[in-house]
Amino acid sequence: MERVLIIDDEFLLRYTLEEGLKDRGYEAYSVATIEEGVEFVKKFHPAVILLDNLLENSVGMDEIGTFRRLDDDVQVILMTAYGSISQAVEATKRGAYDYVLKPFDVDEIDYLMKRCLEQKKSRDSLQFLKGRTTQFIGVSEAAGKIRSHIRVLGENSGVNVLLRGETGTGKEVVARLIHDCSDRRDNLMVRINCGAIPENLLESELFGYERGAFAGALKTKKGLIELADGGTVFLDEIGELPLSMQTKLLTFLDDRRFKRIGALEDTQVDVRIIAATNRNLEQAIREGQFREDLFYRLNVMQIEIPPLRERREDIPALCEYYLDYYNKAFARSIEKVDPDFMRELILYDWKGNVRELKNIFERCFLFSPGAVLEKHVELAPVERRERPDEGSCFYLKDLKKGPISLEQEVTALEKIYMSEALKLCGNNLTKAAALLGTTRFSMKRRMEREGQEQPPQE
Ligand SMILES: Nc1ncnc2c1ncn2[C@@H]1O[C@H](COP(=O)(O)OP(=O)(O)OP(=O)(O)O)[C@@H](O)[C@H]1O
Ligand SMILES: [Mg+2]
Repeated sequence: MERVLIIDDEFLLRYTLEEGLKDRGYEAYSVATIEEGVEFVKKFHPAVILLDNLLENSVGMDEIGTFRRLDDDVQVILMTAYGSISQAVEATKRGAYDYVLKPFDVDEIDYLMKRCLEQKKSRDSLQFLKGRTTQFIGVSEAAGKIRSHIRVLGENSGVNVLLRGETGTGKEVVARLIHDCSDRRDNLMVRINCGAIPENLLESELFGYERGAFAGALKTKKGLIELADGGTVFLDEIGELPLSMQTKLLTFLDDRRFKRIGALEDTQVDVRIIAATNRNLEQAIREGQFREDLFYRLNVMQIEIPPLRERREDIPALCEYYLDYYNKAFARSIEKVDPDFMRELILYDWKGNVRELKNIFERCFLFSPGAVLEKHVELAPVERRERPDEGSCFYLKDLKKGPISLEQEVTALEKIYMSEALKLCGNNLTKAAALLGTTRFSMKRRMEREGQEQPPQE
């Protein structure tokens, strides 16, 4: 049932409208003043407000923004006795959904509200289909930390951010969330893929140009950075930015001023820069591919998003999220993931991270007819990790590919655990043994038997 609030100081109208809407299945309430209306919206978040234009002490038209700022989901319909086109235009300009002329009958309002709610629904699902999440999903410690960084960066909207993480880990998601929870949210977040724009176009794309700056520059054009004024510039794949542009970007970051190509005057903008990369920038700096001073300028705050294989506890949470997501998108009602499939998903290597998980879900949705999500993909067997220092070790071999030696596999796993434990305990054999629930003596014997290098005597 949709909740509606009527704000009108005329008792009779308020009463008739409220009762009429209740009869038509709405959860309707009414108040007489803006102040009461504000209190109501704060507490009960109605879907629609029917706002009278001429109240005793206020003008409804002037208060549309008040309600929209309180709750940007609420739709306002202005009720006015003196209708004119210009007033209607003004009302929508100020954020109203529509307006109605008094006197009206309740059916007219009912129709208008149905249309309004219908549109709202399809807009919500559009956002949804675009894959906009409103949360960084995950239950791991890393995910929790990322959420709290996002909050802090929302409150500090002048701070530049560097996002790092493998492909598909959610760098763009994080950038979007930072923008959306900052006071820059009403302005644009412009994304620039530094790797995709040809070098000779980058400058004019970023900074714009003046009319006549070069052949073909018929009109002055604003660059992407200027379009984002007041908002956020998301420099994606910053590692791919050519050196010449790195220098120009650095100059811009100094005082947020730049010249359009061909301009004499500087243009000043206020933007936050969020840069993202999956490249190892330190290495690029050593190789002379990336300017160190630019790196420090961008890297005021760094968020590292670990690959999915290093936070496997997030996999079930993401599965639940995408189950819900595709159920809505495909109008299905799949209840759960097949348990064997789920186990495989948790153990899988996820080179494409969350994006790969999402794609797998989409595919399996299409091919699972019933209430259980079935496995309709080949998951590459988890590779055996040779080096124990590469995060957590999952040590499963694909038995379908032929026989293995249990003895050898178990020994290899033992070795990894022992060297991990030693590393953690600063090569102290006694402590490492305790960590593995065994004794110093037995651990030493195992190591000798397996020809593992022993730490120097403690
Ligand atoms: N924690 C998360 N919660 C919800 N969705 C996520 C999360 N992380 C990633 N996704 C989803 O995974 C997909 C990939 O995310 P995104 O595009 O942000 O990755 P990326 O790090 O920018 O990758 P690339 O380096 O390839 O550009 C998107 O569909 C995104 O919605
Ligand atoms: Mg990306």
